[in-house]
This record gives sequence, C-alpha cells and structure tokens, in this order.
Amino acid sequence: MKVLIVGSGGREHAIAYAVAKSPRAEKIYCAPGNGGIGQLAECVDIGAMEFERLAAFAQEHAIDFTIVGMDDPLVGGIVDVFEKRGLKVFGPRKNAAILEGSKAFSKDLMKKYGIPTAGYENFTDADKALEYLNTAKYPIVLKADGLALGKGVLICNTLEEAQAGVRSIMQEKQFGSAGNRMVIEEFMTGREVSVLSFVDGKTIRTMTSAQDHKRAKDGDQGLNTGGMGTFSPSPFYTEEVDAFCQKYIYQPTVDAMAAEGRPFTGIIFFGLMLTEEGPRVLEYNARFGDPEAQVVLPRMKNDLLEVMEACVEGTLDKIELQFEDNAAVCVVLASEGYPVSYEKGFEIKGLSAFEEAEGYYCFHAGTKKCPDGRILTNGGRVLGITAKGADLKEARANAYQAAQWVEFENKYMRQDIGKAIDEAT
Ligand code: AMP
Ligand code: GLY
Repeated sequence: MKVLIVGSGGREHAIAYAVAKSPRAEKIYCAPGNGGIGQLAECVDIGAMEFERLAAFAQEHAIDFTIVGMDDPLVGGIVDVFEKRGLKVFGPRKNAAILEGSKAFSKDLMKKYGIPTAGYENFTDADKALEYLNTAKYPIVLKADGLALGKGVLICNTLEEAQAGVRSIMQEKQFGSAGNRMVIEEFMTGREVSVLSFVDGKTIRTMTSAQDHKRAKDGDQGLNTGGMGTFSPSPFYTEEVDAFCQKYIYQPTVDAMAAEGRPFTGIIFFGLMLTEEGPRVLEYNARFGDPEAQVVLPRMKNDLLEVMEACVEGTLDKIELQFEDNAAVCVVLASEGYPVSYEKGFEIKGLSAFEEAEGYYCFHAGTKKCPDGRILTNGGRVLGITAKGADLKEARANAYQAAQWVEFENKYMRQDIGKAIDEAT
C-alpha cells in the first residue's frame, strides 16, 4: 500500500515510524515532512493546507491511504476534498472535526447529551461577556472558540484579569478570528490526563493514557507551549476511572456526533480532568496529540495501518487494541527562547546514536535536512526524545540519558517531565 501522511511535526514522525513498521506499507510519502521523517518517507513539498494540490498528488501517485495528522487541515475540510475525488483518507470530515474546531460547539454537544464537563456560557458579544463576569465565581476560564495553537485558554484569578482577557480575545483579537466567539467556563481542579482513541463513526477503541506538560519551564512555570514532554501511562488513570469514562464520556461522545448527523471517523483525543466529583472533559481534539503520539504509538502492538483502515471501513468492532505493559517518556528538546523567540539553523549532532538503540526514539519536529546531509534546527520544538522502560521511573531515566546523546546550540529542555508523578506514586 502507498501511504501519504500530511503534517510536519514530531507527531507525524511518530505516525510515519508506526506506519513504516506495518507489513502493508510499501511506500510512504509525507507532505511537507521534515528532516527526520525524510529517513522513512519521501518528503513532498506541498503545504498541509493546500488541499487540492495534495489530493492531485495522491491521485497522480496512486496513493492508497492518506493520514492527516494536524488539526488545521482537518478543521478546514481536507478529508471532504479527498473523499470527493474518491481517495481513501483517515480523519474526520469537516462537519465532525468541528468537535475540536469550535469549543462552543463541543460544550453545547456535551450539555445536550449529558457528558460531564465544566459549567459554561457561550458569548458572541463582548459586552454581554463582560457583564456576565460581574456575577461570576473566580478563578474562571476564558476560551477562544476556534483553533489558537493550543494557546486560546486563559485562567483568570480576578474580575480585572478576566475583563482584560475578554477584551483581548474578543475586541483586540489576540487569537484572530478564533476569538469571534468565546466560552467562559467554571474552573476545575484535579489531575489532568489525556486519552486518545480510534473511532469509526460508531465504535470507539481507546488507547493507553498519557499526560502532557504544556508550560515552558520546570514546575509548570512559564508560558504555554505546544507541549514540552509527555509520559504514558498515567498512574492516576485507574480501571475505575476508565470504566466511568467508557460509560459516560467516550461512547456517549461518539453516539452524540452520530445523532447530530456528524459521524466521527479518526482520532478523538479526550483531555480529561479527574475532579473530586469524577472525570470531566476539558477539551476534545480531532487528531493525535503532539507529543502524546510520541509516547503512545511506540507502546502500541497493533499494526497502525490495519487499525486506521478499520476506522475508515467501519469495522473497528473487529479490532482489539493492545499496548505493551511498560511505560514511555518523551522529553522535547527545544530552542532556547521557545515559545517566544529563538534562533534556528544550528547543526544537530549525535543523531546516529538512536539508530541501533532498541526502545529509544528521536522524533523530529522542527528540523531541516541540508543538501549536504547535515540536519539543522528549524523550529521552536526541535526533537522529541522518547524512551521506554519497565516503569515510569526507568523510562524517565532512559529518556533523560538519551536527551544527552544529541547536541545543538541553544538546546533547551525541561528537567522534570514525569517527575511529580514519579514522586507521587
Ligand atoms: P484546553 O486547550 O481546553 O485543554 O485548555 C488548556 C489547559 O487549560 C488545560 O490543559 C488545563 O490545564 C487548563 N484548563 C482548561 N479548562 C479548564 C477548566 N475548566 N478548569 C481548569 N483548568 C482548565
Ligand atoms: N499536546 C497537546 C495537543 O496536541 O493538543
């Protein structure tokens, strides 16, 4: 089978890695890809938002199966464009990707179908939102409705902060048109956990749990980022929590989408908060997390292509997912200064150390391959170093050891990925 992967980050590298292991994969292309993905796949210089060009490429090259890794093209309707040309593609259609594309939509869906989440109100008018704040409880959470690179959420401790937040989202358009509408929601406390799942429109199969570290600095300080590291599984995601979520969150979400005439095919990422009153949905995403994919996929025993094909064909009920009984940790190596400003173009050395190292992975995010073969830094998040271990402690030690194998100027990483969890259990 010829496979095309759409995207260019560490998540797409992890997907390409899993696809390359499948005996079904004959040839892999990735658009646009990056310096590391180029070792497994032929990179194609077409941007992820160029739907017609991508679909034309897929037709010309007789691609059998396309996998869309990123949120923007999914929310923009890439799947519909491919399907119109009769191309097989993994991911939700535009009318289902709205589960991630509009927070107001997802909150209304949860309310209508009784799926546990924080109480909220939606606003399209800044004055009404400001008025609502006068009688609200604090802290409070403000969310821009649309996609905002994971940065459209503000937690405000006081009325003044919240007023400034509403003005910045709705009037100054800090997150662009994502802020034409906003959700104001109740602040919840508890442990966070992410659960990713495969969905075929009616059946859902959940993967092993994971947890991200979104802040730039140790101790969850500093600015929000795309994610500085992950671990899997989460020791707090117990069988009891899973049973609750299967019954009240996962299947009900899939059924709700189907009942709305928006059957969901692809990945649903459940961002959960384990509150004292039980698990609640923080957010939905319509694709693998980045860097959650980098710890979940290396632990998956199934053939990824087989599972994805079953999603597209509506036969997921025939598949049982299996994960290794171990743990994985991913430490992101970033450019110093990320997420604000940073330099790029530095040579990365030591990458060959990963070639023979079983259970260690170096997933490229912001890298570029030069014509002379050197790999240069080309982004804020540069590499995701994943290592497995018998348990979290071992996986953590292994990942931090492997993080020393590669060197580049201005290399920055958090030192505490998975640490608090290690200590709490
Ligand atoms: P989201 O993009 O909706 O996952 O929000 C980003 C982060 O903001 C989450 O990972 C949480 O840490 C935090 N957050 C979002 N919603 C809430 C909430 N209702 N209560 C407390 N924290 C929240
Ligand atoms: N790591 C969080 C996300 O991919 O949205």
